[in-house]
Amino acid sequence: MFQMDGHQIRITHSRCSRSDIIAQMARSADQKGRDDAFFLVDLADVVNNYRRWRRLLPRVTPFYAVKCNADPILLQVLSLLGTGFDCASKGEIGTVLQMGVAPARVVYANPCKQISHLKYAARNNIDLMTFDNEAELYKIKSTYPLARLLLRIATPSNNDVLYDLSTKFGCHPGDVSGLLGTAKNLDLDVVGVSFHVGSGVEDPGVFFESLRRAHLVFEIAAKMGFALNTLDLGGGFYGHPGAPICFEKVAAVLNKSLDTFFPLSSNVKVIAEPGRYFASSAFTLVASVIAKRMCTTPAEKTDPHGLATLDPKKLSSDKPTYMYYMNDGTYGSFGLVHFEVSRFIPRLVKEPASDVTFTSSLWGPTCDSVDCVLKEVALPELQIGDWFYFENMGAYTISLQSRFNGMPTPECHYICDEDIWKTVLKQRQKPMNRHRSEST
Ligand SMILES: Cc1ncc(COP(=O)(O)O)c(C=O)c1O
Repeated sequence: MFQMDGHQIRITHSRCSRSDIIAQMARSADQKGRDDAFFLVDLADVVNNYRRWRRLLPRVTPFYAVKCNADPILLQVLSLLGTGFDCASKGEIGTVLQMGVAPARVVYANPCKQISHLKYAARNNIDLMTFDNEAELYKIKSTYPLARLLLRIATPSNNDVLYDLSTKFGCHPGDVSGLLGTAKNLDLDVVGVSFHVGSGVEDPGVFFESLRRAHLVFEIAAKMGFALNTLDLGGGFYGHPGAPICFEKVAAVLNKSLDTFFPLSSNVKVIAEPGRYFASSAFTLVASVIAKRMCTTPAEKTDPHGLATLDPKKLSSDKPTYMYYMNDGTYGSFGLVHFEVSRFIPRLVKEPASDVTFTSSLWGPTCDSVDCVLKEVALPELQIGDWFYFENMGAYTISLQSRFNGMPTPECHYICDEDIWKTVLKQRQKPMNRHRSEST
């Protein structure tokens, strides 16, 4: 075991798979009488994703989107690797500054900022920030006139995306000149363009079109006397194995688009704000069955007096269905389950006693009936205490957890492959030249 920021890191060897480690941890939890859900966090996965990013997108510096998952060890590893950070609020800025990250490694990428948060950014020299509307420009003028601004533009409408962020943010092409004109009149320093194609994008073509739009903005700005030098590609990248689109394809489209619109000779600094890409596959959620209900049919058995209206489909089969209640749910790590159902696949830790499967549903631990994780899934019969796990659980899970009904949030347990620990993380863990942030 090693330590990182007071957290234990278990060193592993390549011959030991993640599922082996999960099985060991589940056994150990049983022996100790522990029945809370937990996360297994694989730090080598973060390092490998970082290496792949550098290899495939050498021109683009990643600024990790803290909102995606602010786990302190994940942030620490990314900081050691040298990423920047995309922060949305005073709280996130404070978190990364407390870790010793220099202000130049932060972009305040929220186009609609609270004034007190903007003042905090000003006091801490977080000067690179996005905007997309006129009121924001006046706010910045009176609060932080020396800020360096990135104009966030809307991206083309796109159906192949989990969350289309341009419904809420981004200046429309027709408004670009007017907004830049206001910035000019206010003597504000616009240094570049940002966009976000939406989280979970499946069509990489939207990057090409967004870069084309960004290039047009650079041209309009140049005519108005601005010398733009920064391009922020936002987030929206998948990183996990089996993703709807592989990172290699997206990187190829991006490199081609950059060569077309922002060749090396343009000297434009290119950054991005990946969240999901870095956080998703490193985190595996391990949960267990805390309660179980068998729903039998036919009707005579369950409802001899006809008190309930029964679903005729259920009456046609003698096979029972099962409801399983587990120790994490939609008020915990599955907050986005209704938008991304296909992402959540339960895998059993122990081989089932029989291959026969039953139509089952998985429910969270709270007393709320909307706390349903999976409405219908084929599973062998499970017993109370059986463990299963969900892969790729690092993005927008921990960051959305509540403690509704007093339920605990799963603890994180960290592992790291020995080679990566020795060659990458241990070496870089030197006392850092800390930048102290203000606490107010
Ligand atoms: C401004 C901004 N940047 C980056 C991200 C991260 O996006 P993703 O996790 O899809 O990479 C988000 C997500 O909402 C965002 O709003």
